[in-house]
Amino acid sequence: MPHDFMPGLAGIPAAKSAISDVDGEKGILEYRGIRIEELCARSSFLETTYLLLFGKLPTQPELNRWVTDVTHHRRIKFRLVDLMKCLPDGHPMDALQAAVAALGMFYPGRNVSDPENNYWSAVRLVAKMPTLVAAWARLRRGDDYIPPRDDLAFADNFLYMLTEAPPHPLWSEIFDDCLILHAEHTMNASTFTGMVTASTLADPYTVVASAIGALKGPLHGGANEEVVQMLRDIGAVDRVRPFVKARIGAKQKLMGFGHRVYKVKDPRATILQALCIRLFHECGGSPLYDVALRVEEVADELLHGKAVHPNVDFYSGIVYDKMGMDVDLFTPVFAMARVSGWLAHWLEQLRENKLFRPDQIYAGEHDRPYVPIDRR
Ligand code: CMC
Repeated sequence: MPHDFMPGLAGIPAAKSAISDVDGEKGILEYRGIRIEELCARSSFLETTYLLLFGKLPTQPELNRWVTDVTHHRRIKFRLVDLMKCLPDGHPMDALQAAVAALGMFYPGRNVSDPENNYWSAVRLVAKMPTLVAAWARLRRGDDYIPPRDDLAFADNFLYMLTEAPPHPLWSEIFDDCLILHAEHTMNASTFTGMVTASTLADPYTVVASAIGALKGPLHGGANEEVVQMLRDIGAVDRVRPFVKARIGAKQKLMGFGHRVYKVKDPRATILQALCIRLFHECGGSPLYDVALRVEEVADELLHGKAVHPNVDFYSGIVYDKMGMDVDLFTPVFAMARVSGWLAHWLEQLRENKLFRPDQIYAGEHDRPYVPIDRR
């Protein structure tokens, strides 16, 4: 069979999936056929997670059970807290990856053909990842870990575990929307990584730990950190044009811009921008936002014709920064939302599993002699 090599597998389908769909020309993203605008306006992160995992919106009793199960599984073992205390100061994505892999040692879930077992693995991963992220954010500074509170909703509880202060109600609402927007996005690098691991029938903790590793890179989830760093480096609106011009002139990427699939502005960026405006209206503005708006204008002008527009990472960091989160927590926050999508693809993959074992085009030599070391 002839093989056309496509670097980055661009345009090559790696799976048949009914979980989400992107129309990159029109800028439409749907989860299980429902547009993300509709979900942000009417759903919650946990309900959306249920939709992604189980393929339909839950009835009230189903939603009650799902929310109760997740809420009651947010706590983490003291030995996991101890493990994190022993890690050196480093990137929170590394700590999260290590902690999720270790989580699997407490709840092995090795038998992935058991639906009951898989349900509880999904509950634990969705429930405990925010606790791990918040615990690391505090432990690395020498502060105590704050256990979750069962009376708080998902987004409220995460914000509470970071500071112990009751969150501003608008922050919780906006943060919940941010989680919905990051929950799933078709076949991307981290989802594909997770699916490759899933295809070996590895346990879901290993699937998620490998996906976390792929999400960390600056071309994928790590871009949200780089965006805020870039906006801080620019520093003022009047410095935007020379900065963007120099960057494009040097053939460097503008972080938070461009996408393999979207040829128009990412719909998640549009919603996040609206969330920024709501947040700033109530809680005061952000100098980063003013710089960001100008970057978008100048990039639009200078990259005209290249179909490079803001993606999900361009405005999300500005929201998290306004909520006082450390910049290096942005990608772990992305991960604790995206675990929903990873798990949905894991469950879908298991239904008709085939081990991923792609081909390659060999570009090396054949039949070379082995030269003894004294004659090389
Ligand atoms: N800034 C400036 N030019 C860009 C950018 C950018 N951010 N992105 C793409 N281009 C240009 C690129 O230089 C190239 O131009 P030319 O054809 O003249 O060489 C053209 O657009 C095509 O770019 P590409 O890199 O070949 O396209 P790709 O599909 O491989 O890249 C991407 C997609 C996301 C890796 C890339 O746009 C990028 O590196 N963006 C910056 C990092 C970023 O924001 N990543 C987050 C992606 S969305 C969230 C997620 O998946 O986690």
